[in-house]
Amino acid sequence: MGDWKSIYQERTVTAEEAVARIKSGDRVVIGHAVGEPSYLLEVMVEHAQDYRDVEIVHMVAMGKCEYCKPEYAANFRHNALFAGGGSRDAISEGRGDYTPTFFFEVPQLFHTTLPVDVALVSVTPPDENGNCSLGVSADYTLEAIRQAKLVIAQVNAQMPYTYGDSIVSVEDIDVFVRHDAPIIELGSPKIGPVEEAIGRNCASLIKDGDTLQLGIGAIPDAVLLFLKDKKDLGIHSEMFSDGVVELVKAGVITNKRKNFHTGKFVATFLMGTKRLYDFVDHNPDVEMYPVDYVNHPVVAARNDNLVSINSCVQVDLMGQVCSESIGFKQISGVGGQVDFIRGAALSKGGRAIIAMPSTAAKGTVSRIVALPDKGAAITTSRNDVDYVVTEYGIAHLKGRTLRDRARALIEIAHPAFQPDLKAEFEGRFHCDY
Ligand code: COA
Repeated sequence: MGDWKSIYQERTVTAEEAVARIKSGDRVVIGHAVGEPSYLLEVMVEHAQDYRDVEIVHMVAMGKCEYCKPEYAANFRHNALFAGGGSRDAISEGRGDYTPTFFFEVPQLFHTTLPVDVALVSVTPPDENGNCSLGVSADYTLEAIRQAKLVIAQVNAQMPYTYGDSIVSVEDIDVFVRHDAPIIELGSPKIGPVEEAIGRNCASLIKDGDTLQLGIGAIPDAVLLFLKDKKDLGIHSEMFSDGVVELVKAGVITNKRKNFHTGKFVATFLMGTKRLYDFVDHNPDVEMYPVDYVNHPVVAARNDNLVSINSCVQVDLMGQVCSESIGFKQISGVGGQVDFIRGAALSKGGRAIIAMPSTAAKGTVSRIVALPDKGAAITTSRNDVDYVVTEYGIAHLKGRTLRDRARALIEIAHPAFQPDLKAEFEGRFHCDY
């Protein structure tokens, strides 16, 4: 390559100059999760009055999501591929939209229905060869960079440098803004007796040498705390968090029995605390790849004994799993849940676990229900579901009749809700429970 230092120098501008290149009506794809360029977003929102109808495409948005505020409704419209704390209200109040999509298909959407005008991303400073790492987020971010007409990057020296297919050359970026800031941190889950019981039940389904995928939310991370007596676990996961670092230090996760990417952690994005970010920084054992590779069910299934662990909002008596909405209110998204449930189904020796507390809303509602709430999205179909776990036990649903799965689910429901569910069972199946 040419003299990357002069390219880098020539393309470095102030944040104000960079965001001035975004035009009204542009579709702007934001670097994913804690990989978002928070400073650029802040400056873009400060200049909100310069824009009309800028479409913001983002998935798990971990930052402030200020562009979702009602006062910016004419300037920005959020198109969420996953709803989060900052975007839920905008979606339910009609100021934003939600687009259902499997995570592994997102990069493909940039070639079809969602062509990218601007990619707004975070990168590390260039290394000695003029390459920047995307750090905590390869996922769809790499493809957004490849497809965008304009790429604006916040260069953040606090971004960990990760390897794999998460590296871009300075030539791939049109505009650089240097701004160092801590990476957004995600705290550890709160563990009470319910999480503890769920963790133990899940652990009983995990064997030495298994390769794990860990989903988003409190439960998948809590499960890790109960794996301390396992040996040689591996990670091939959409994301992982601090719990994994703990198990590496304890010698539980070694990746050495993985038959695919042996010895390596494989992930597409990362979220945790500084401890995690320090662990992955320049760590040759951690490989980050785009989501259409990591999450592709056929790729994930190349791991024998792949165990996926995800959580949900509601499971009905047929085993239909809602993981992303409370009635019509979109609270999250499918993310990689189905990608990995299908990956686990295709994996030799694979198992797919949906783990959840038996109740929600401070114990006032059962998560095991006769019928999904009106408006609830079915995330994992009854044909895909495998194991469902609560603090009361394990229901293995795959290959079982509707009658047997309803019985198995009632067994692991909270006792306070069992009488109603049993009455539903008797009416539905014309037999005694
Ligand atoms: N009825 C009413 N409220 C419910 C509910 C139900 N059936 N289920 C959950 N809730 C409420 C909870 O009480 C909680 O409310 P609060 O914030 O007021 O306490 C809120 O919804 C969030 O639920 P909770 O289960 O605590 O969230 P979590 O952070 O543990 O995440 C999921 C759980 C299901 C939202 C999360 O795992 C998810 O988004 N999954 C889908 C995507 C996925 O699996 N991706 C995998 C790869 S990343």
